[in-house]
Parts: sequence; structure tokens; C-alpha cells
Amino acid sequence: MIKVAPSILSADYVNLQKDIEKVDKAGAEYLHIDVMDGTFVPSISYGPNFVKAIRPITKMVLDVHLMVQNPEHILQAFIDAGADIIGVQVEATQHIHRALQIIKNGGVKAEVVINPGTPVEMIKPVLHMVDQVLVMTVNPGFGGQKFLPETVAKIAELNQIKRANGYDFDIEIDGGVNNETVVDCYKAGATVAVAGSYVYNADDPAERINALKEATK
Ligand code: DX5
Ligand code: ZN
Repeated sequence: MIKVAPSILSADYVNLQKDIEKVDKAGAEYLHIDVMDGTFVPSISYGPNFVKAIRPITKMVLDVHLMVQNPEHILQAFIDAGADIIGVQVEATQHIHRALQIIKNGGVKAEVVINPGTPVEMIKPVLHMVDQVLVMTVNPGFGGQKFLPETVAKIAELNQIKRANGYDFDIEIDGGVNNETVVDCYKAGATVAVAGSYVYNADDPAERINALKEATK
């Protein structure tokens, strides 16, 4: 059964606490927080103060996805804000190893993220040091996009490397995830599913979280 990480990018910001409590009660393991800087991706979302504000209202794992160019400078702020996992895009820095080191030295779980157009090969040198790998299943920047099926082969490739080397990182998928698209990803080795619009653009988010779990039993 896959772990579920609702993305609050698609939540109702005026009633954010309510929307967070809904998925918490429904048994979501993670809360996915999408940080966008207007440079690495065209959109702008929120920063470390947002994470700090959410920290006291839930015990869910705060899974922070940084879509930020040169993230090294702001990592400490997200560590101090109370993130449990911090993900950096390999395309956004010339110093991915250093960025992951900063996260780990801060006592936070380190994640490397790859875009659909980035080969798994790119992250091989840092796989020994990560707690989670996020394989983007859409191009980052917006919620509600269509799942890219060609990314499934990358999940399988990554899972193969994981097994061959005895690594124990989680494999997370993000973008266009629903009760259908999640199935092949789970079979290929995904262990955590981010879902934004599928969970929050529904009358009953709890039912959607359940559906993701049911589909991966
Ligand atoms: C996309 C973000 C996702 C987004 C997913 O750039 O990284 O986390 O919220 O949204 P859905 O699930 O609607 O594709
Ligand atoms: Zn995300």
C-alpha cells in the first residue's frame, strides 16, 4: 500500500487549517508543500514562514518540495521552520551534493528531485546519501496537469538501482497522480504518492486518499 502525500497547492488557502485536518484525519502520512520561486518554475507559491505556521497544527510528515533555483541559500530557513523532508531539484543547483549535505546536517531527511526530462543517471552519485527520491511525473510548476506515462520506466530503473545497492530510500511520485495512474507507478517501485487536485478538487478528500491506498493494496 502506498503512502499518500496530499499537496496543499490545490487546497483552499482561506480554510487551510480545515483542509489540512481533513487529510490528516483521513490517514495521509505526509503533507506535501510545493515551494515555487518564479524562476525555476513560472509560479510563485510560499516560503519558510508558511511551513513554520503549519508545523504546530499537524504531526504529519512535512514534505517540502523546493522548486527553487540555487536552493542552498534558503535551506537553513526551511530546516528551522520544521520541515521533516526537504527536496531539491537536481536541475536547480550546480552543487547537489552540497545541498543534500546541508539538509542532512540540519537533521532533516534529504530528497533529490528529477524532472521528466532528466535521466536517472544524473542522480546516481548522490543516491547513497538520500532518504527519498522524487520522480516528477509532470513538468513542475502547476497542479492539475496530465500524468506523463514515460516516467514509469524511470521509476523502475531507479528501483532496480535501489535493490542492487541495498539502498532504502523512498521513491515518491508527483504530478497527475490518481487512482489509475498510481497503479503502474506502485508496481514499478513507488512508495509515496503526492496528489494535489485529485485529493482537493473532490467533495470528499478522505475518499480519494482511500482510493489511492485501495488501488495499491
Ligand atoms: C507540481 C507540484 C505538485 C502538484 C501536483 O509542480 O510539484 O506537487 O501540486 O498537483 P497534481 O496532483 O494536481 O498534479
Ligand atoms: Zn510537488
